Amino acid sequence: MSTESVTEQRFARMRPERAHDAPVVHANELPPGPPLPTILQSIGLLRFRHQFIPAMHRRYGDVFSIRILPEGRRLVVFNRPEHVKEIFAGDPEVFHAGKGNAILGPVMGEHSLLLVDGNQHKRARKLLMPAFNGHALRGYEALVTGLTKAEVGRWREGAPFESLQRMNALTLEVILQVVFGVTDETRLAQLRPLVNKTVNIPPLIFLGWGFPRLQKYGPWRRTIENQIELDRVIFAEIAERRQATDLADRSDVLSRLLLVRDEDAADGSGALSDEELRDQLVTLLLAGHETTATALAWALHELGKDAAQEAKARDAASVGDTDYLEAVLKESMRLHPVIPMVVRHLMAPATIGGIDLPRGANVAASILLAHESEASHPDHTRFRPERFLDGEVATNTWIPFGGGVRRCIGAGFSLMEGVAVLREVLTTYDVAIPAGTTEVPKVRNITSVPRHGARIVVTRRRPGPRPR
Ligand code: HEM
Repeated sequence: MSTESVTEQRFARMRPERAHDAPVVHANELPPGPPLPTILQSIGLLRFRHQFIPAMHRRYGDVFSIRILPEGRRLVVFNRPEHVKEIFAGDPEVFHAGKGNAILGPVMGEHSLLLVDGNQHKRARKLLMPAFNGHALRGYEALVTGLTKAEVGRWREGAPFESLQRMNALTLEVILQVVFGVTDETRLAQLRPLVNKTVNIPPLIFLGWGFPRLQKYGPWRRTIENQIELDRVIFAEIAERRQATDLADRSDVLSRLLLVRDEDAADGSGALSDEELRDQLVTLLLAGHETTATALAWALHELGKDAAQEAKARDAASVGDTDYLEAVLKESMRLHPVIPMVVRHLMAPATIGGIDLPRGANVAASILLAHESEASHPDHTRFRPERFLDGEVATNTWIPFGGGVRRCIGAGFSLMEGVAVLREVLTTYDVAIPAGTTEVPKVRNITSVPRHGARIVVTRRRPGPRPR
């Protein structure tokens, strides 16, 4: 079958409204929430989440329900550590995560780790995990440092620039090379714009996939054409790599995945098919790129706006104190959660925090609310990395990567990458923000990015005492 028809069939198969066949849940079965029309609540969640969710918390307390598109789906929002713990520890057969991500199906594919549940998820996770264990991460570090050196070496002193844009370019380069191990510049040049266009698909296009006729026109057609081209390049890379004789010596994710075998596979081979490989590779490229870039941009903004914090981080970088740099990154993610919540769909009735919930309800652990809880994080509006070093941050109060069997598979990778990038930036430059700069979060797809791109100004560090 041609790549074109494989891609088009994926779009036809994975229409969001077909992927979600949940039973209807009524308001009287759930904790209270705002009586606003579904469309207004959806806009509140998608566009103004930093105001809407805290406002609902203030009005309705620690547990409340909201109604969102499509189909007026009901979402019960939790944030207390004991409730978060119950959600993360919930039986994976009952607490499904893939259903809520169905809208990503046409892009990520039906085998994607983000979309599957139950045994299929368990299998995929087991096969992917070794590419992200401690040993593998140590292997990627030199690559991250090398690419960061090249990136920061191009920065111009004294001229403000958007750190988010530079971090996006850098993390794209990193993830492309970690996932494919591609060093062939022609193929990298083909992949960069295709992946970028995929990351930047606007929400309207996603919602439009529910209407098959739209797929023939304008931006919807162009999205599909971009996907066809991306698939063509990825399938070509997979086919070439299958011929390689040195797979065991390669450390990239694709080479590792070509060697893994599912011992319980019914067909005896247990190898991943081309389509399974494509789906997992695209998932990693998309999930592992903008998220880390956003966390880094927020970290640079926080350091840049406070000379004392920047000096501490710079000193830590100079002496190779990675614990401190990791604390900087963690505190940035606490103060500016990249992803606002994680959602589970109940396949059977369940009880959380003593509240009985029916089958078909969706439950969310709000990362936003958990991170701004004064009880969990005293002085919560302040950027204070030390809180991660003195044992003050309790389990289930800092949850930027979700949790349980669905915890972000790239969590360790992104912390390693973030620390390596901060170390390189801070040993090369002093970082500040342009005078008068303020930043607020802006919703971009599912991530919360700094609205003005986290502009910074860098000055090359000179030997000797730092000018004050
Ligand atoms: C700062 C960076 C990142 C943040 C904030 C982040 C956040 C998250 C969150 C909140 C989830 C959902 C967890 C849940 O449902 O409990 C998730 C899942 C996932 N993330 Fe990340 N992520 C980051 C980086 C990465 C990287 C670097 C990769 C890959 C290289 C990655 C790949 C994935 C995948 C494949 C899943 C699905 C896991 C599953 O369902 O089993 N993420 N991430």
